[in-house]
Amino acid sequence: MNNADVGDDVYQEDPTVNQLEELAAKKIGKQAALFIPSGTMGNLIAVLTHCQRGEEIILEADSHIYYYEVGGISAVAGVIPRLIIGNKGILDPQDIKKALRDENLHYPKTTLICLENTHNRAGGTIISPKMVEKICQMDTYQFLPKLAEYNILGSPRPPSKVRLVTHYGISEDDIYTTIKAIKEIVKN
Ligand SMILES: Cc1ncc(COP(=O)(O)O)c(C=O)c1O
Repeated sequence: MNNADVGDDVYQEDPTVNQLEELAAKKIGKQAALFIPSGTMGNLIAVLTHCQRGEEIILEADSHIYYYEVGGISAVAGVIPRLIIGNKGILDPQDIKKALRDENLHYPKTTLICLENTHNRAGGTIISPKMVEKICQMDTYQFLPKLAEYNILGSPRPPSKVRLVTHYGISEDDIYTTIKAIKEIVKN
C-alpha cells in the first residue's frame, strides 16, 4: 500500500482504483465495476439502489445487514426488514414465498430478497448455486428484484452471473447506467 500509485478517485484519477475496477469488471464479465471501500457501504448502496422508502425487504434473521449494520437500511434507506429464520443461515424458498405480500394498498411493497453468501453469523455457510438459482427463479411479483450478497472471502462460484453484491433480473444496460449515475454523483 505504501508504494501504491494514488490519485483523486473522485475525478477517476486514482490509477490503482481504476486498475482494480477494470480488473473486477473483466473478471466477472461486466462493462464496468465500482470500488466500494466497505461491505456495509456496499450493502446499503445496493438496498438504496433497489428500494424506495417504506418498502420491505426479506432478510435471514441473523443476516449481517440486519444484525451488524447499525440499522442503516431503516435509518438511511427507509426500508423495513422482514426477517425469516433460515437453516444455518440458508433461507428455504418456501418460507420466502410465504413472506411475500399480496398486492394490497395497506401493505408495504416487498421489493428485495437479500441472500448472504457466505453467511457470517452461521459460521460461513454456503448457499449452493442451485439454491440461489431456485430462489431467483421463484414466481415473484413483477416489481420484485432479487439481490444476493456474496461475501468476498470464500464465495462459491454462483450460477450464471456471479457478483459480489449484485442484482438479479435487471438488464446489463441498467446496471451500467446505475454505475455511471453513481460515478456522476460522486464526481459532482
Ligand atoms: C456477510 C458480510 N457482509 C458485510 C460485512 C461488512 O463488511 P465491512 O466490515 O467491510 O463493512 C461483513 C463483515 O464481516 C460480512 O461478513
